[in-house]
Amino acid sequence: MKLDSECVRGAWDCDPPTGALSVPIYQSATFRHPGLGESTGFDYSRAMNPTRTVLEKTIALLEHGKYGLAFATGMGAISTLIKIFSPGEKPVHIIVSEDLYGGTYRLFNGYYNRYGFSFSWVDTSSLAQVEDALRPETRALLIETPSNPMMKITDIRGCAALIHRRGGLLMVDNTFLSPYFQNPLDLGADFVLHSGSKYLAGHNDTLAGFIVHSHDHYDPVLREAQKSEGASLSPFDSWLTLRGIKTLALRMEKHQAGAKLVAPWLRRHPKVERVFYTGFADHPQADVAARQCRGHNGMISFYVKEKRYVEQVLKRVRFILFAESLGGVESLITYPLVQTHGAIPEAMRLSAGLNDKLLRLSVGIENPEDIIADLAQALA
Ligand SMILES: Cc1ncc(COP(=O)(O)O)c(C=O)c1O
Repeated sequence: MKLDSECVRGAWDCDPPTGALSVPIYQSATFRHPGLGESTGFDYSRAMNPTRTVLEKTIALLEHGKYGLAFATGMGAISTLIKIFSPGEKPVHIIVSEDLYGGTYRLFNGYYNRYGFSFSWVDTSSLAQVEDALRPETRALLIETPSNPMMKITDIRGCAALIHRRGGLLMVDNTFLSPYFQNPLDLGADFVLHSGSKYLAGHNDTLAGFIVHSHDHYDPVLREAQKSEGASLSPFDSWLTLRGIKTLALRMEKHQAGAKLVAPWLRRHPKVERVFYTGFADHPQADVAARQCRGHNGMISFYVKEKRYVEQVLKRVRFILFAESLGGVESLITYPLVQTHGAIPEAMRLSAGLNDKLLRLSVGIENPEDIIADLAQALA
């Protein structure tokens, strides 16, 4: 099946007894046992639920993995994946992209560093910097590519080679491109992570998170953690995400087409200092993008020339919504400094280029003329 067909059909044909095309929402906490020691395969929805199972198989199919696990949020997925390591047994050092979602920074530096994990934050778009950060106790490399919010691109194949040489694992947060434009497992990654709340579900109406991988050894470990910690995705949210994925191909094409018009318009605007967009031909890692991605998303970050324009834009936008998140059908504008990346310490933020003049735009699937008209009046 072709990729756009896979998005529509997923891992589902129809409900055999009724012929229903839509996956039933098995809104049941528990399942009747046929007899002592017997099970239908489903016992309790925290551990396994039939609607969630279809979604887990669908995301595995789209990401070319053997196994998929669905969580209540993207953070739930990241937190669970980190638990494959036990610092009590041997030291765990993880190298992480310095320019990534602020919530991941908060989770690692605010929580996991208390439990014996250590992290190094590096610009992973430079393989030399990744290599320099490797230590004997480095067990994993976690990258976001494109990065959030500076849109840097990290060479997934190059990172896989570096970390595998040390016996470590490569984890890739693929939220920004979705499996429609990038499949990290095909490029050597061990694990793919997603905030399904973004492009996958796509409608700004639900939260979800995923881990996809092909490691037989780790699958029972991850399922046990999912069941024990209970951050598993609910049946209704599983259904909403399944429904969102059906139109992923159409939406990603529309996000891409919209951003391709909005980004150069912003670049020409006299009050805009610099625009960060992976689709520019002169993007510093355009060659890497051409090797590993099939397209570009709807994400654009930009510096306004003066800080006062930030407040002006956020106050004046009407069509574009000033809200935290990305990847949904509605265009959203975010101020990373105080919203998505507020948890990152100032020095680290500034070294990554995340300053008080940076705005992040998630181009939705509306008509780009309306998005540009709104930006024009907001920046006037
Ligand atoms: C790249 C990326 N990864 C992970 C997350 C966390 O996902 P969630 O908000 O679903 O917990 C986000 C949230 O913005 C994100 O942008």
